[in-house]
Amino acid sequence: MKSKETPILQLENLSFGFEKTKPILTDISLTIERGSFTLITGPNGSGKSLLLKCIKGLLKPNSGTIMLDGTDVTHSSKKRLTSIGLVFQDAETQIVGQTVERDILFGLENLELPHAVQQERLGAVVSLLDLTKQLSQRPRTLSGGEKRRLSIAGVLVMQPKLLIMDEPFANLDYPSVVQVLKTLLQLKDEGHTIVLVSHEVEKILAYTDDVIILSGGKVVAQGHPSSVRSLFSQHGVYLPADIPLEELTWLKP
Ligand SMILES: Nc1ncnc2c1ncn2[C@@H]1O[C@H](COP(=O)(O)OP(=O)(O)OP(=O)(O)O)[C@@H](O)[C@H]1O
Ligand SMILES: [Mg+2]
Repeated sequence: MKSKETPILQLENLSFGFEKTKPILTDISLTIERGSFTLITGPNGSGKSLLLKCIKGLLKPNSGTIMLDGTDVTHSSKKRLTSIGLVFQDAETQIVGQTVERDILFGLENLELPHAVQQERLGAVVSLLDLTKQLSQRPRTLSGGEKRRLSIAGVLVMQPKLLIMDEPFANLDYPSVVQVLKTLLQLKDEGHTIVLVSHEVEKILAYTDDVIILSGGKVVAQGHPSSVRSLFSQHGVYLPADIPLEELTWLKP
C-alpha cells in the first residue's frame, strides 16, 4: 500500500551487463526517500551513469526489481521515462531545439498542455536557471555552463517526480556551481526528490541526506554522510580531511 512513507524509488537486486556473462552492475539494492537529497558517488567507471540509465528506462536490467512510488515499474520503462527526469552527464546529448526557448518547450509540446501553462512553466525555469537573455540564442552557441543550465531547465520544465542529475558540476565555474547548488536546494525546499551523481563530494556533501557509494558496479555503502564519510577514500573518492561536515559545500551560508 502507498503511504506518505512509501519511498519514491526502490531497487532490489538490480543487475546489468551489455553481455549476460559480463555483469557491470551487480545486485544493486537501494532506497530513495521522498523529498530527500541523495548523493551517489564512486570512482570513474564504477557504474553510476549506467545505473541511472537503468533507472530511467533507457537500458534494460538483466534482473532485479524497480519500484517507483510504491508501484512495480520493472517492466514499464514508459512510466519511468515520463516520471523520472534525468539530466545527462553530457549536456550536448540532450539539446534538441533550434533555440533555447524551443529546446525547453520541446518535451512539453508532447504533453499537449495549454499554451498559457507552457509559457508559465517556461518562465519559471528560465528565471530559476538565469537563461532569460539566451532565450532566442541557438543552443550550440551557448557556453559550457549555459548548456548545462539549459539541460537542467529542459528536464525541470517537465516537473518530474524524481530529478536525477549526472555530474551536474562538470565543466562549471565557481559562480555556476553555486547557482546549480542554490537551484537544487530551492527544489528540495519545494518538496522535490533529488538524486545527484558526482564524485565532487566536497561541493555538496553538507546538504545531502543520504549517500550511496558505488564501486566496481556494486553498492559498497549507503547511509548518512556522517556515517559513510570515512569510507570515501578507500573507495577512490577524494574528500579533504579534517573539514567539518557542515563546511563541505561550495555554497557558503
Ligand atoms: N556502451 C558500453 N559498452 C560497453 N561497456 C560500457 C558501455 N558504457 C559503459 N561501459 C562500461 O561500464 C562501466 C561503467 O560505466 P559508467 O559510465 O556507468 O561509469 P561512471 O561511474 O558513470 O563513470 P564516470 O565517473 O567516468 O562518469 C565502465 O567500465 C564503462 O567502460
Ligand atoms: Mg558517469
